[in-house]
Amino acid sequence: MCGIFGYVGTRINAGQLVVDGLKNLEYRGYDSWGVACKNEQGDIIVEKDIGKISTVDSRQFSQRCTQALAHTRWATHGGVTKKNAHPHLSTDRTIAVVHNGIIENYQELRDELKNKGHSFLSETDTEIIPHLIEEEMKSTEDFASAVRRACKKFKGRYALLAMHTTSQTLVAARTGSPLIVGVGYEDGPRPERGAERRVEGYFIASDIPAFMAYTRTVQYLDDGEMVVTDGKNVIFTDIENGKERPKREIEITWTVEQAQKGDFEHFMLKEIMEQKESIARAVNQDEEQILTLAEAIRNAKGTFLVACGTAGKACMASEYFFSVIAGHHVNFAPASEFKLYHHFLQPESLLIVVSQSGETADSLEAMKVAKSKGAKVLAIVNVKGSTIDREADYSLRINAGPERAVASTKALTGQLAVLMLIAYAMAGKLKNGKTLLLETSSMINDMLNPRYIERIENLAERIKTKEDLYIIGKSWNFPMALESAIKIQEVSYIHAEGFAGGELKHGPIALIEEGTPCIALMGNDEVTTDILSNTIELKARGAFTIGVAPQRNEAFDEWLKVPDAGHAQALVNIIPIQILSYFLAVKRGKDPDMPRNLAKSVTVK
Ligand code: G6P
Repeated sequence: MCGIFGYVGTRINAGQLVVDGLKNLEYRGYDSWGVACKNEQGDIIVEKDIGKISTVDSRQFSQRCTQALAHTRWATHGGVTKKNAHPHLSTDRTIAVVHNGIIENYQELRDELKNKGHSFLSETDTEIIPHLIEEEMKSTEDFASAVRRACKKFKGRYALLAMHTTSQTLVAARTGSPLIVGVGYEDGPRPERGAERRVEGYFIASDIPAFMAYTRTVQYLDDGEMVVTDGKNVIFTDIENGKERPKREIEITWTVEQAQKGDFEHFMLKEIMEQKESIARAVNQDEEQILTLAEAIRNAKGTFLVACGTAGKACMASEYFFSVIAGHHVNFAPASEFKLYHHFLQPESLLIVVSQSGETADSLEAMKVAKSKGAKVLAIVNVKGSTIDREADYSLRINAGPERAVASTKALTGQLAVLMLIAYAMAGKLKNGKTLLLETSSMINDMLNPRYIERIENLAERIKTKEDLYIIGKSWNFPMALESAIKIQEVSYIHAEGFAGGELKHGPIALIEEGTPCIALMGNDEVTTDILSNTIELKARGAFTIGVAPQRNEAFDEWLKVPDAGHAQALVNIIPIQILSYFLAVKRGKDPDMPRNLAKSVTVK
């Protein structure tokens, strides 16, 4: 989490540039922000504060400056205070550092530094970094070497970016948390074909949207690597032995427009609406590759799916897809719980890691566990070039385009579509699967019309003051009930819980009072009668029942009509809930794009 962005080059407004760019990384953390600019005298000037960087007028950083770094924080060590905000400085104020991740041995390092006379102003683990670099600079003139020596002493997962008053370079290092270099060419992001290109500067960021307005040519830093740039040249090396690591330049295809809000008030609503097209893009996969992967699952001695949060609910739904559509057993575990499953792993096992960002720490950790047992890893990701995308043996992309709202919406339906497609391929019915999913996508296109949305907005108005909300489902609608609860909780802060309909009478039904809103997700299939019975049980206890279903039923006090999508019902049923969650947040005065305490990309364990 935490967003990092730095620039060095010929542009003279580096301070303003990094602040503006960082506004595009606010989804990574938004409790405080900070910027360090090197002025014409070579001094490092730091500004920081609590609150959101989106509210900061970047023009206050328009002084001449060609080297700057900035940070938006998601607090781990130390509360949300101005002192704890990054950048942090060395004692002599010659070194500024921003950091993402956790330095696990920071207490030990801080005690050693204290014994050497260093004093600390914040409660963060980060602050030891500039102090340790300062200490290392006592035995080397070279800033990059001092950073390397310091990095070798760190334990944990981190990404850091540093600058020094007397060095023209920005130095960055990563072990576990993402960092990407943007190559700034003088002719901008869209070069003339065949033209010779000259570099004007380099950008270093936790994610591409920070610099997408300037370049779409990127170089990825891998774990255990450092990068040093003076704005003209860039060198990637191994932290451990200093050996140079050659890097390719990669062109990214996302556009600036895709990563902006456009006419929408919030990214969440924009991304919900984009499901009109994003599901079709997810389905548009190379058929040969899907068939090969289906074969790999069939031949694997055990297929495990791991993911976190919403992506995990897609995996859980796919257990039903593989069972019902392909008659094949797969196992899902939350990535954070996967470690102890290693007893079941063998070299012939397959791990499927599903992740929107491709950077989630627990998912990466699960990948490591599988690889240590020699098992193969298939990734299903949204972000091309992300760590999971690059480190997996095979990778499929859902092509949802950038997802900026913390609450995942279009990534979920893309993940469900790809997993379902593989299940159909395993059943020898890839074409049928593709047809069903494309039909579903066009049904969703029809569904997302202004009248439908207004209907849900009115429902949100009716229930916005409720304190509890329950959602039930059966089969693939059970994981969608869990996902519905996540959506409602994370943006509206209403207490919401999802259950398997059949589990109600084993406890949760005791929670139902007169007027408690309860949503039942259903399709038109062999479990519809069961889930209807559960809805009637709820109504009999006074619940205000909301049916998300293709047909009206007298068990529903309110009916949200969804198309009958057969095996793809999970994809259509979750959409009215995404819209409901959005309006519940807005009507309760909450910002759905930046829910409290959360971040989009969770790069700490
Ligand atoms: C965070 C996000 C969720 C997301 C989860 C997994 O909690 O807020 O929206 O589902 O991480 O992220 P991933 O990028 O791995 O899908």
